[in-house]
Amino acid sequence: SRPAQASGSRFAFDELQAGVDTKHHVAQGYDADILIRWGDPVVKGAPAFDVQKQTADAQEKQFGYNNDYIGYVPLPLGSTTSDHGLLVVNHEYTDAAIMFPGLADAKGEFELSAQSKEQIDIEMAAHGQSVIEIKRGADGKWAVVPDSAYGRRITARSTEFLVTGPAAGHDRLKTSADATGTKVIGTINNCAGGTTPWGTTVHAEENFNGYFGGELKDDHPEARNYKRYGLGEAEYGWSLHHDRFDLVKEPNEPNRFGWVVEIDPTDPTSTPKKRTAMGRFKHEGAESIVAKDGRVVFYMGDDQRFDYLYKFVTAGKFNPADRKANMDLLDEGTLYVAKFDADGKVAWMPVVFGQGPLTEANGFKSQADVLIETRRAGDLLGATKMDRPEDVQPNPVNGKVYVILTNNDKRKAEQVDAVNPRPENKFGHIVEILPTDGDHAATTASWDLLVKCGDPSVAAVGATFHPGTTQNGWFGSPDNCEIDADGRLWVATDGNNYKYSGRADGIWGLETEGEARGTGKLFFRVPVGAEMCGPKITPDLATFFVSVQHPGEGGKEWPEFGRPSTFADPSTRWPDFQDGVPPRPSVVVITKQGGGKIGA
Ligand code: FEO
Ligand code: CA
Ligand code: CA
Ligand code: CA
Repeated sequence: SRPAQASGSRFAFDELQAGVDTKHHVAQGYDADILIRWGDPVVKGAPAFDVQKQTADAQEKQFGYNNDYIGYVPLPLGSTTSDHGLLVVNHEYTDAAIMFPGLADAKGEFELSAQSKEQIDIEMAAHGQSVIEIKRGADGKWAVVPDSAYGRRITARSTEFLVTGPAAGHDRLKTSADATGTKVIGTINNCAGGTTPWGTTVHAEENFNGYFGGELKDDHPEARNYKRYGLGEAEYGWSLHHDRFDLVKEPNEPNRFGWVVEIDPTDPTSTPKKRTAMGRFKHEGAESIVAKDGRVVFYMGDDQRFDYLYKFVTAGKFNPADRKANMDLLDEGTLYVAKFDADGKVAWMPVVFGQGPLTEANGFKSQADVLIETRRAGDLLGATKMDRPEDVQPNPVNGKVYVILTNNDKRKAEQVDAVNPRPENKFGHIVEILPTDGDHAATTASWDLLVKCGDPSVAAVGATFHPGTTQNGWFGSPDNCEIDADGRLWVATDGNNYKYSGRADGIWGLETEGEARGTGKLFFRVPVGAEMCGPKITPDLATFFVSVQHPGEGGKEWPEFGRPSTFADPSTRWPDFQDGVPPRPSVVVITKQGGGKIGA
C-alpha cells in the first residue's frame, strides 16, 4: 500500500519508508546509481584503487575520501546544459580507522602515533577537491569521462593556494616556509560550498582546528585567537610528521586556514585562491545570489554551537558578459554578521575595522586583524548566537534565504531567544530570511521560522512540521540543502539521528509555500553510519547528485549492526559489499526511470 501523501505539496513522488539498514534507498520509480567512489580515477593516468597497496601518490590522482559539497558547472560554460558538465566535489575529512587495514583495534581506536608517515600523507592527499567531467549517455545513465583533460585533484598535501584579499601577506600569515604570507599548501575540512554566477566554485574550510598539534602558552600573542577557534586538541597525527601542523613550531599556520577558497574548475592549471575578505571562521558553505544592483551576495554559516550567521557583499558588480572581470570579485566587499530580534527583524552589522568596537582599543590594527579574528569581531558586535548554522541558501524564485540550524543540545533554558527558541535543541530548525525590499545587499531583513525539526508525534520534542507530514516525512539535524530551479527546498540531514530516532540520514523535500508549507517528504536515505551531503540538482531538474559521506562510521552508536567502525568491520561495506574492501564514500546519481523531472 502506498504511504499517505500530503495535499498541496509540490513534491510529487511516493514517499520512501524511513528506517536504516546497510544499503541506500530512493523513492519508487527512481534509480540511484553510484557515480564515483573513494579511490576511483580522477586525474589521467591514475592507478586502479587497491586498498591493500595505498600510496599518497596514487591518492593524489584518485577520488578523495568523505565527499561532501557537490558543485555542478554545465559545459559549455555559461550554458544550462544538463547532460554534460563538471562536478567539483569536496573531500571533507578522513576516517583512518576504516581506511587502513590493521590500524584500529576492535573498538575502532588507535594512537595517532601508530600511523606511518605514508598513511598521514595519504590522508592529506585524500582531502581537498576532485574535479571530474561527467556526461549523460543515450541510455540516460551518467558516467565520468575517462582521462578527461578537466580531471583534477586539489589536496592538502601538494596544491599551492594563493592568499588574496585584505589579510594576504599579513605578518600573522607568515611562516618559515612562506615569508610572503600569501602561499599556502592545501585546504582542509572542506564541508559545503557554492557555485558562483561566473562558473567558479567556492569551498568552505570548516573544522581546521583538529589538524594542529601542540599547545601555545597563554601569553602567546595568538593564544586568545586560537582558543576562540578551539585549537590545541589534535584529532589527526599530521603534526607528528609535518612541522607546519605543529602550533609550537609554526604558530601562524592555523591563520592560513578557516577561509573560503575559490576554484576555477574550467582551467586545471589555475591557482586556487583563499579569499580572506569573506572572513575566517568554521565556514560551512557559501551560496550566492546577484543583488538588484548587480553586486553578489554570499550567505555563510559558522558551524559551531552559539556561533554566527554572516553574509558578504561584493564591492564590484557581476558582469555576465565578461567572465574575466568577475574573477577577483571576492577580494573586495563588506562582510556582515547577523543580529536577530524578537520582532522578526534582522540587522546585518558590518564587520569592518574602525566601525563600532572593531578598533585598536580592542586589539585590531587593520581589517586584516578583524578578518583573522572574525569570531571575536562578531562577539564584540553582539551578533546572535545561533544553533550551529550550516547551509544558508538564497531561493531565487521566492527571494527568501533558508538558514539551516542543525542542532545545539548545549543551549540552556535561560539562553533561549526568539530565533533559537528551544533549549537542548537536539533536532534543529530552519529559519527564513526575507531581505528588505527584496534586496539581498540591504542591511536589514525580516525573519520567520519555517520549521522546528524532530518527531512531531512526541509532544516534548515540540516539532512544527505541517500535520500532513507522515512518520516518514519528518527529520532532525538538517545540514545541507538544495533549492532547485522551481524554487523547491530539499534538505539533507547529518545525525538525523540513529541515536535519537532509529532512522538513517537522507534527503527530504520540504514544502515552503501555500497550505502545505512545512510538510516534509522522504526521498532518499543513506546506509548506516553515513551522513547525507552535497545535494545538487541539474538545471533541467532531471538529475539529482548526492554525497554519501562516511558510510560505516560510528559503529558504537548502532550495535544492532555489529561492531565498531574499523577496516575489518564487515557490518557494512557499502557500496561494493566485497570482503576486504571497506565502505567507500561515494557520489550517487539519482534519475527518474523513463526520464523527466525529479519529484514532478
Ligand atoms: Fe561539516 Fe557543518 O558540517
Ligand atoms: Ca559533513
Ligand atoms: Ca555539513
Ligand atoms: Ca553537520
